[in-house]
This record gives sequence, C-alpha cells and structure tokens, in this order.
Amino acid sequence: MAGNSKRIYLIGFMGSGKTSLVKKLANKLGYEWRDIDADIESATEMDIPTIFSEHGEDYFRKLEAQFLRTTGLEENMVVSCGGGTPCFEGNMLWMNENGITIYLEMTPKAIYSRIKDQRETRPLLQKIPEDKLLDHITEMLEQRLPFYEQSQLTISGLTYKLPELVETIKSR
Ligand code: S3P
Repeated sequence: MAGNSKRIYLIGFMGSGKTSLVKKLANKLGYEWRDIDADIESATEMDIPTIFSEHGEDYFRKLEAQFLRTTGLEENMVVSCGGGTPCFEGNMLWMNENGITIYLEMTPKAIYSRIKDQRETRPLLQKIPEDKLLDHITEMLEQRLPFYEQSQLTISGLTYKLPELVETIKSR
C-alpha cells in the first residue's frame, strides 16, 4: 500500500488473541480499529450464535465477506477478523491485496486451554464435548492452515512483542 497509510488484518484461529491485540496495536499506531464479528452483531442486532442458528453458516459467511470489504474504504485501521474469515469467499486474497495480513499463530493445545470454557459464544464449537475438543481444534486448524499461511507476517499469539511488531509494520 502506498505511503504511510495502512490497513492491517489480524487473522488466526478462535482464541488466538486477535480481539486483545487489535486494540493494543491500534493504540500504539494511532489507528482506528474494527472487529468484523462485532460489526456484524451491531448491524444485525443479533449475536453470532443466533445468526448461525437462525440463518445458517453460509448466511454468516456472506455477511462476513461484505463487512470485511467495507474496511477497504478505510485507512490507518487495524481489523480483527473472525477465525474463519480468511477461509471463505476469497477473503484471504482480498486482504492481501488491500492491506497487511498478520497471522497470530498458536498450537491446538494453547487454543484448547484458552477456549474450552468459552464455547457458548462460538457456534462452531458449542456442541463439541470437552473430551473431543482438542482433536476437533487440531483438525480444524489443519484445514485452515493453508489459508492462514498466506499471511504476510506471522507472530506467536502467546509471545509476540508489541514494540517489535509496531516497528515491523512501520518499516513496511
Ligand atoms: C468463527 C470464529 C468466530 C466467529 C464465528 C466463526 C470461525 O470469531 O467469527 O463464530 O469460523 O472460526 P473468533 O475467531 O473471534 O472467535
């Protein structure tokens, strides 16, 4: 992207820390931030589990792709995507053409321990019993990796250093 104006897309599996990093990063860069899931929830006045249960996943994916593309009208912005955003509707390609993509990498075990008690807000995991959850996360992550790995930068979701990340972004 030309000049100092940048759009940054945070991607990664559910529970990898996108929601917390988006605010910290925007604050350090002096950018605005957005969260695709939160935008969808406020526009539809429905929470994500309700959208999935009443309208289905395909409907959600269409909304997700539409809301993602509205970020193309903004500059100097950090965007937190949903865990599945890069994997549907050509979204990964679109993000790479319209901004800097950053993958928050985390092992299935770390993801498991972070999300095992927060499944009710995540329709894709709600019905998975706890003893099958780690295997399920491992499988889903394997399917999603080919998309996540197309990101321009990869950082560890557990041990990234915010000042280093800010410098890397500024130098691009
Ligand atoms: C999803 C992740 C969720 C949300 C929806 C689907 C996914 O976002 O978009 O439940 O497909 O991985 P988080 O990654 O913020 O939990």
